[in-house]
Amino acid sequence: MTDDTDLNRAARALSRARAVLVLTGAGISAESGIPTFRGAGGLWEGFRAEELATPQAFAADPARVWRWYRWRQAQYGECEPNPGHAVIAQMEGAYERFLLATQNVDGLHHRAGNREMVEVHGTITRTRCSRCQRLSDWPEAIEEGEDPVPRCGSCEGLMRPHILWFGERYWTGTLERAYEFAHEADVCLVVGTSAQVWAPAQMALLAQQQGAFLIDVNPGATDISFSADVHLMGPAGELLPELWERAQRSPQEP
Ligand code: OAD
Repeated sequence: MTDDTDLNRAARALSRARAVLVLTGAGISAESGIPTFRGAGGLWEGFRAEELATPQAFAADPARVWRWYRWRQAQYGECEPNPGHAVIAQMEGAYERFLLATQNVDGLHHRAGNREMVEVHGTITRTRCSRCQRLSDWPEAIEEGEDPVPRCGSCEGLMRPHILWFGERYWTGTLERAYEFAHEADVCLVVGTSAQVWAPAQMALLAQQQGAFLIDVNPGATDISFSADVHLMGPAGELLPELWERAQRSPQEP
Protein backbone atom coordinates (compact mmCIF):
# COMPACT_ATOMS: atom_id res chain seq x y z
CA MET A 1 0.00 0.00 0.00
CA THR A 2 1.12 3.53 -0.67
CA ASP A 3 2.69 5.75 1.96
CA ASP A 4 1.57 9.04 3.40
CA THR A 5 4.39 11.14 1.93
CA ASP A 6 3.52 10.07 -1.62
CA LEU A 7 -0.17 10.79 -1.07
CA ASN A 8 0.68 14.25 0.28
CA ARG A 9 3.02 15.07 -2.62
CA ALA A 10 0.39 14.06 -5.15
CA ALA A 11 -2.30 15.96 -3.25
CA ARG A 12 -0.16 19.10 -3.19
CA ALA A 13 0.41 18.91 -6.95
CA LEU A 14 -3.34 18.58 -7.53
CA SER A 15 -4.15 21.46 -5.19
CA ARG A 16 -1.80 23.81 -7.12
CA ALA A 17 -2.78 22.66 -10.61
CA ARG A 18 -4.79 24.79 -13.00
CA ALA A 19 -5.01 22.25 -15.83
CA VAL A 20 -5.45 18.54 -15.17
CA LEU A 21 -5.32 15.65 -17.62
CA VAL A 22 -6.64 12.27 -16.40
CA LEU A 23 -5.94 9.06 -18.29
CA THR A 24 -7.84 5.94 -17.26
CA GLY A 25 -7.79 2.27 -18.18
CA ALA A 26 -9.68 -0.84 -17.21
CA GLY A 27 -8.42 -0.77 -13.60
CA ILE A 28 -10.67 2.20 -12.71
CA SER A 29 -13.70 -0.03 -13.35
CA ALA A 30 -12.33 -3.14 -11.61
CA GLU A 31 -14.01 -2.20 -8.33
CA SER A 32 -17.30 -1.78 -10.22
CA GLY A 33 -17.06 -5.49 -11.08
CA ILE A 34 -15.75 -5.23 -14.66
CA PRO A 35 -12.80 -7.56 -15.29
CA THR A 36 -9.67 -5.83 -16.61
CA PHE A 37 -8.40 -6.68 -20.10
CA ARG A 38 -5.26 -8.45 -19.11
CA GLY A 39 -6.53 -9.86 -15.82
CA ALA A 40 -8.31 -13.20 -15.31
CA GLY A 41 -11.94 -13.72 -16.29
CA GLY A 42 -11.92 -12.31 -19.82
CA LEU A 43 -13.21 -15.33 -21.77
CA TRP A 44 -16.62 -15.56 -23.45
CA GLU A 45 -17.77 -18.90 -24.87
CA GLY A 46 -14.11 -19.93 -25.11
CA PHE A 47 -13.03 -16.81 -27.04
CA ARG A 48 -10.58 -14.13 -25.94
CA ALA A 49 -11.35 -10.46 -26.65
CA GLU A 50 -8.53 -10.39 -29.20
CA GLU A 51 -10.41 -13.02 -31.22
CA LEU A 52 -13.73 -11.17 -31.26
CA ALA A 53 -12.87 -7.48 -31.30
CA THR A 54 -11.40 -7.44 -34.79
CA PRO A 55 -12.66 -6.44 -38.25
CA GLN A 56 -11.87 -10.00 -39.40
CA ALA A 57 -14.08 -11.57 -36.69
CA PHE A 58 -16.92 -9.22 -37.65
CA ALA A 59 -16.58 -9.99 -41.35
CA ALA A 60 -16.54 -13.74 -40.65
CA ASP A 61 -19.46 -13.84 -38.19
CA PRO A 62 -21.13 -10.52 -37.33
CA ALA A 63 -23.85 -12.27 -35.30
CA ARG A 64 -21.28 -13.85 -32.97
CA VAL A 65 -19.48 -10.54 -32.45
CA TRP A 66 -22.80 -8.84 -31.74
CA ARG A 67 -23.94 -11.53 -29.26
CA TRP A 68 -20.69 -10.97 -27.36
CA TYR A 69 -21.11 -7.17 -27.31
CA ARG A 70 -24.77 -7.41 -26.32
CA TRP A 71 -23.70 -9.66 -23.45
CA ARG A 72 -20.96 -7.20 -22.41
CA GLN A 73 -23.30 -4.23 -22.66
CA ALA A 74 -25.84 -5.99 -20.44
CA GLN A 75 -23.07 -6.74 -17.92
CA TYR A 76 -21.94 -3.11 -17.87
CA GLY A 77 -25.55 -2.04 -17.31
CA GLU A 78 -25.57 -4.01 -14.07
CA CYS A 79 -22.41 -2.27 -12.81
CA GLU A 80 -22.31 1.09 -11.10
CA PRO A 81 -19.61 3.78 -11.11
CA ASN A 82 -17.40 3.42 -8.02
CA PRO A 83 -15.85 6.07 -5.70
CA GLY A 84 -12.86 6.36 -8.09
CA HIS A 85 -15.15 7.38 -10.97
CA ALA A 86 -16.93 9.80 -8.62
CA VAL A 87 -13.69 11.60 -7.75
CA ILE A 88 -12.75 12.03 -11.42
CA ALA A 89 -16.21 13.52 -12.08
CA GLN A 90 -15.71 15.95 -9.16
CA MET A 91 -12.31 16.96 -10.55
CA GLU A 92 -13.93 18.02 -13.79
CA GLY A 93 -16.07 20.49 -11.85
CA ALA A 94 -13.15 21.73 -9.77
CA TYR A 95 -10.68 22.72 -12.51
CA GLU A 96 -11.05 25.41 -15.12
CA ARG A 97 -9.12 23.29 -17.59
CA PHE A 98 -9.70 19.57 -17.40
CA LEU A 99 -9.74 16.64 -19.77
CA LEU A 100 -10.36 12.96 -19.21
CA ALA A 101 -8.97 10.53 -21.78
CA THR A 102 -10.29 7.06 -21.17
CA GLN A 103 -9.44 3.80 -22.87
CA ASN A 104 -12.59 2.22 -21.43
CA VAL A 105 -15.72 1.64 -23.47
CA ASP A 106 -17.98 0.84 -20.49
CA GLY A 107 -19.60 4.28 -20.23
CA LEU A 108 -19.09 4.46 -16.44
CA HIS A 109 -17.27 7.81 -16.54
CA HIS A 110 -20.20 9.33 -18.38
CA ARG A 111 -22.62 7.85 -15.88
CA ALA A 112 -20.50 9.27 -13.05
CA GLY A 113 -20.87 12.76 -14.58
CA ASN A 114 -17.79 13.41 -16.75
CA ARG A 115 -18.42 15.35 -19.98
CA GLU A 116 -15.00 16.83 -20.84
CA MET A 117 -13.86 13.49 -22.09
CA VAL A 118 -12.34 11.67 -25.03
CA GLU A 119 -13.16 7.99 -25.28
CA VAL A 120 -10.12 7.00 -27.30
CA HIS A 121 -11.30 3.43 -27.89
CA GLY A 122 -14.96 4.36 -28.43
CA THR A 123 -17.98 3.50 -26.30
CA ILE A 124 -20.47 0.71 -25.88
CA THR A 125 -23.28 3.28 -25.76
CA ARG A 126 -23.05 3.94 -29.53
CA THR A 127 -23.03 2.00 -32.79
CA ARG A 128 -21.67 2.93 -36.21
CA CYS A 129 -22.65 1.80 -39.69
CA SER A 130 -19.89 -0.30 -41.19
CA ARG A 131 -20.86 1.04 -44.64
CA CYS A 132 -21.82 4.75 -44.34
CA GLN A 133 -20.26 5.39 -40.86
CA ARG A 134 -23.49 6.93 -39.48
CA LEU A 135 -23.52 6.90 -35.67
CA SER A 136 -26.55 5.68 -33.69
CA ASP A 137 -27.49 4.85 -30.13
CA TRP A 138 -27.01 1.34 -28.82
CA PRO A 139 -29.88 -0.89 -30.04
CA GLU A 140 -32.72 -2.24 -27.92
CA ALA A 141 -32.36 -5.64 -26.28
CA ILE A 142 -33.60 -8.53 -28.40
CA GLU A 143 -35.47 -11.77 -27.70
CA GLU A 144 -33.71 -15.13 -27.81
CA GLY A 145 -33.44 -16.30 -31.43
CA GLU A 146 -33.79 -12.81 -33.02
CA ASP A 147 -31.05 -11.57 -35.39
CA PRO A 148 -28.59 -9.79 -33.07
CA VAL A 149 -27.10 -7.62 -35.86
CA PRO A 150 -28.75 -4.19 -36.18
CA ARG A 151 -29.03 -2.51 -39.61
CA CYS A 152 -28.38 1.10 -40.52
CA GLY A 153 -31.53 3.26 -40.74
CA SER A 154 -30.02 5.13 -43.74
CA CYS A 155 -28.29 2.57 -45.93
CA GLU A 156 -29.25 -0.82 -44.48
CA GLY A 157 -25.53 -1.59 -43.89
CA LEU A 158 -24.49 -3.69 -40.90
CA MET A 159 -24.12 -1.66 -37.74
CA ARG A 160 -21.11 -2.36 -35.53
CA PRO A 161 -20.24 -1.18 -32.03
CA HIS A 162 -18.55 2.25 -32.08
CA ILE A 163 -15.44 0.69 -30.60
CA LEU A 164 -11.87 0.62 -31.87
CA TRP A 165 -10.94 -2.95 -32.69
CA PHE A 166 -7.57 -4.66 -32.67
CA GLY A 167 -5.68 -3.81 -35.84
CA GLU A 168 -7.67 -0.61 -36.50
CA ARG A 169 -6.28 2.92 -36.61
CA TYR A 170 -7.32 5.60 -34.13
CA TRP A 171 -10.06 7.91 -35.41
CA THR A 172 -8.85 11.32 -36.46
CA GLY A 173 -9.34 13.95 -33.79
CA THR A 174 -9.81 11.88 -30.64
CA LEU A 175 -6.26 11.21 -29.51
CA GLU A 176 -5.13 14.53 -30.98
CA ARG A 177 -7.36 16.43 -28.56
CA ALA A 178 -5.81 14.63 -25.60
CA TYR A 179 -2.28 15.04 -26.94
CA GLU A 180 -2.83 18.78 -27.36
CA PHE A 181 -4.08 19.03 -23.81
CA ALA A 182 -1.03 17.07 -22.60
CA HIS A 183 1.09 20.11 -23.56
CA GLU A 184 -0.73 22.38 -21.14
CA ALA A 185 -1.46 20.06 -18.20
CA ASP A 186 0.10 20.85 -14.82
CA VAL A 187 -0.82 17.42 -13.53
CA CYS A 188 -1.37 14.19 -15.40
CA LEU A 189 -3.20 11.62 -13.29
CA VAL A 190 -3.06 8.09 -14.67
CA VAL A 191 -5.39 5.48 -13.19
CA GLY A 192 -5.66 1.74 -13.77
CA THR A 193 -3.85 1.17 -17.03
CA SER A 194 -1.18 -1.41 -17.77
CA ALA A 195 0.27 1.09 -20.31
CA GLN A 196 0.54 -1.74 -22.83
CA VAL A 197 -1.20 0.25 -25.55
CA TRP A 198 1.37 2.66 -26.77
CA ALA A 199 -0.61 5.70 -27.96
CA PRO A 200 -2.48 6.51 -24.72
CA ALA A 201 0.52 5.63 -22.54
CA GLN A 202 2.77 8.01 -24.50
CA MET A 203 0.32 10.83 -23.84
CA ALA A 204 1.07 10.63 -20.10
CA LEU A 205 4.82 10.61 -20.68
CA LEU A 206 4.52 13.52 -23.10
CA ALA A 207 2.58 15.51 -20.48
CA GLN A 208 5.38 14.85 -18.01
CA GLN A 209 8.05 15.91 -20.51
CA GLN A 210 6.11 19.13 -21.03
CA GLY A 211 6.19 19.87 -17.31
CA ALA A 212 3.22 18.03 -15.79
CA PHE A 213 3.53 16.28 -12.45
CA LEU A 214 2.81 12.63 -13.26
CA ILE A 215 0.79 10.56 -10.77
CA ASP A 216 0.08 6.88 -11.36
CA VAL A 217 -2.58 5.04 -9.36
CA ASN A 218 -2.22 1.29 -9.81
CA PRO A 219 -1.81 -1.67 -7.45
CA GLY A 220 0.77 -3.06 -9.90
CA ALA A 221 3.85 -1.60 -11.57
CA THR A 222 3.84 -0.45 -15.20
CA ASP A 223 6.07 1.51 -17.57
CA ILE A 224 4.21 4.63 -16.44
CA SER A 225 4.61 3.95 -12.73
CA PHE A 226 8.38 3.61 -13.18
CA SER A 227 8.51 7.10 -14.72
CA ALA A 228 5.85 8.71 -12.53
CA ASP A 229 6.70 11.42 -10.01
CA VAL A 230 4.49 9.50 -7.59
CA HIS A 231 3.21 5.94 -7.87
CA LEU A 232 0.24 5.42 -5.54
CA MET A 233 0.15 1.68 -5.19
CA GLY A 234 -3.34 0.41 -4.45
CA PRO A 235 -6.92 0.27 -5.68
CA ALA A 236 -8.29 3.45 -7.25
CA GLY A 237 -11.64 3.21 -5.43
CA GLU A 238 -9.80 3.63 -2.13
CA LEU A 239 -6.87 5.83 -3.07
CA LEU A 240 -8.61 8.44 -5.23
CA PRO A 241 -11.10 9.56 -2.52
CA GLU A 242 -8.22 9.83 -0.03
CA LEU A 243 -6.05 11.73 -2.53
CA TRP A 244 -8.83 14.13 -3.48
CA GLU A 245 -9.74 14.79 0.14
CA ARG A 246 -6.12 15.71 0.89
CA ALA A 247 -5.84 17.82 -2.29
CA GLN A 248 -8.83 19.88 -1.20
CA ARG A 249 -7.30 20.41 2.26
CA SER A 250 -3.82 21.31 0.92
CA PRO A 251 -2.80 24.99 0.73
CA GLN A 252 -3.31 26.31 -2.82
CA GLU A 253 -0.26 28.60 -3.00
CA PRO A 254 3.00 27.23 -4.39
P1 OAD B 1 -5.33 -3.74 -18.69
O1 OAD B 1 -6.22 -4.89 -18.36
O2 OAD B 1 -4.20 -3.98 -19.62
O3 OAD B 1 -4.70 -3.17 -17.36
C1 OAD B 1 -5.46 -2.89 -16.21
C2 OAD B 1 -4.57 -2.24 -15.18
O4 OAD B 1 -5.39 -1.91 -14.08
C3 OAD B 1 -3.45 -3.14 -14.63
O5 OAD B 1 -2.22 -2.42 -14.66
C4 OAD B 1 -3.88 -3.41 -13.20
O6 OAD B 1 -2.77 -3.52 -12.30
C5 OAD B 1 -4.70 -2.17 -12.88
N1 OAD B 1 -5.71 -2.36 -11.82
C6 OAD B 1 -6.37 -3.49 -11.47
N2 OAD B 1 -7.24 -3.23 -10.48
C7 OAD B 1 -7.14 -1.91 -10.19
C8 OAD B 1 -7.78 -1.04 -9.27
N3 OAD B 1 -8.70 -1.48 -8.42
N4 OAD B 1 -7.41 0.27 -9.25
C9 OAD B 1 -6.46 0.73 -10.12
N5 OAD B 1 -5.84 -0.05 -11.01
C10 OAD B 1 -6.16 -1.35 -11.05
O7 OAD B 1 -6.28 -2.57 -19.19
P2 OAD B 1 -5.92 -1.24 -20.02
O8 OAD B 1 -4.59 -0.70 -19.63
O9 OAD B 1 -7.08 -0.35 -19.93
O10 OAD B 1 -7.99 -1.59 -26.05
O11 OAD B 1 -5.84 -1.81 -21.49
C11 OAD B 1 -5.65 -0.89 -22.52
C12 OAD B 1 -6.31 -1.35 -23.75
O12 OAD B 1 -5.88 -2.66 -24.08
C13 OAD B 1 -7.81 -1.50 -23.68
O13 OAD B 1 -8.50 -0.28 -23.79
C14 OAD B 1 -8.08 -2.38 -24.85
C15 OAD B 1 -6.92 -3.35 -24.78
O14 OAD B 1 -6.35 -3.68 -25.99
C16 OAD B 1 -8.86 -1.80 -27.05
O15 OAD B 1 -9.76 -2.59 -26.95
C17 OAD B 1 -8.63 -1.00 -28.28
